[in-house]
Amino acid sequence: MQDWISLGYLLSAALFIFGLKKLGHPRTAPFGNQLGALGMLVAVVTTILQMGLGDGIEWVLIGAGLVIGSLIGLWMAIRVEMTGMPELVALFNRFGGAASALVALSEVWRYMEDSSNVPTDQLEITVIMVAAGLSALVGWMTLTGSLLAMFKLKGGVSIFGKWIKTPTWGPVWLNPVKVMMVVGVAVLIYLSIDAPTDENYLWGIIGISSLLGIVLVLPIGGADMPVVVSLLTSLSVLSAAFSGFIIGNSVLIVAGSLVGASGLILTFIMCKAMNRTLPDVLFKSFGGSGEKESLTRTKVGSDPDEVAMMLDGAQKVIIVPGYGMAVSQCQHQVKEFADLIAEKYDTEVKYAIHPVAGRMPGHMNVLLAEANVPYEQLIEMDEINPEFPDCDVALVIGANDTTNPAARSGEGPLAGMPIIDADAARTVVIVKRSLSVGYAGVDNDLFYMDKTMMLFGDGKAMMTGLNNAIKES
Ligand code: TAP
Repeated sequence: MQDWISLGYLLSAALFIFGLKKLGHPRTAPFGNQLGALGMLVAVVTTILQMGLGDGIEWVLIGAGLVIGSLIGLWMAIRVEMTGMPELVALFNRFGGAASALVALSEVWRYMEDSSNVPTDQLEITVIMVAAGLSALVGWMTLTGSLLAMFKLKGGVSIFGKWIKTPTWGPVWLNPVKVMMVVGVAVLIYLSIDAPTDENYLWGIIGISSLLGIVLVLPIGGADMPVVVSLLTSLSVLSAAFSGFIIGNSVLIVAGSLVGASGLILTFIMCKAMNRTLPDVLFKSFGGSGEKESLTRTKVGSDPDEVAMMLDGAQKVIIVPGYGMAVSQCQHQVKEFADLIAEKYDTEVKYAIHPVAGRMPGHMNVLLAEANVPYEQLIEMDEINPEFPDCDVALVIGANDTTNPAARSGEGPLAGMPIIDADAARTVVIVKRSLSVGYAGVDNDLFYMDKTMMLFGDGKAMMTGLNNAIKES
């Protein structure tokens, strides 16, 4: 039987590895996702089989937990709006991290209940207590940090029906405090090795880590949030890897390390996209005050007929999608637009994809793939930017920060972030409901340029209007 269990764990680890490999390309990503889910099923069944070999297993408790957890997950997944997906996924990940951290606590309780459960081998107890401390540190830090990040992504917290703004606050003296907190946790972990039956050390670690999560995320705002969300996700999964050491479960160690490492790679890709280093994001408080700039300028809007007339004769159009496309769910109308001008005016159409457009990594790719836009037309920022000076029209749909020339200046929440060079196109058309600011709260000069036409309105309504105007022209 033990051989079958080892084989089960090996199979699930292999499925995770192949699943992650397939996630590397949008075309193969759905299959990669299915492989990962299959790997998890094999891991759960194998673990249940392994537990079946032991005595005193509370099957009713485990079954009830599985059923209640699945029902809550199903209910939340059905209710969530497409634009709320990043927050939901973040929340699911963090609960996973917190659950792993609770494993550490339960292990110490097991030792307290019966001291004969404490391993006699000193190396073994050292590994377990260090893993328990690290799991508690990472799990609780990511739980509180992520909850704060979630409220920041939502724009504030609703208390008694009133929206309270989540502050962005990070004086320089907070940095040594963060370092002292990490050192404090390290000392508590060291002390816990000699006292595995004393739960107080773990409670101390949990308390400091929970506070650390908050002070780490508090200074971060504006356009740097994607980096912190991605970092917290990878750390919360590492917490599962540490739990694997505590309970001696190899598949937890393998899966946690794999997913945690890929999350860290994604974090560094995000940092590169934002032109930041990780220490900069964590310690420099780039996000600004979190206040939105007040707008004083005005701009007269255009209508779809006017834009359709201007498009007649355009040889090259680059579509720049952003968060507003996700909100209005107009990706199908965008695809119809591309097909229409390609057929009617023989226009070359490409899509410019900014790495942090929208609210989650790959947000635009997922939406456009759903509308069957060919992958070859989705071009990454660095590759498409040199093409804008030769482009007749840049059609910006609900993108704001990712096209904001203010990022080229050395100041403000967007400072230094690479942007899509839509302003280099001969004409710019922007679809959004108003002149209001984007996620980072910075006014956008692109709206007020002479060559810019604003199509004020909801993305779906405006794109439908534009498509109708092209058909009738
Ligand atoms: P944003 O700067 O967020 O701007 C989106 C624009 O969409 C808004 O200015 C809004 O203007 C418009 N909009 C909203 N609803 C709309 C609708 N129904 N129809 C048409 N337009 C609508 O978008 P972006 O350029 O994609 O930049 C993303 C920002 O989010 C960056 O700052 C990034 O750092 C941050 N962020 C990204 C992520 C990831 S991982 N991608 C995660 C967290 C944060 P109106 O209100 O005037 O319509």
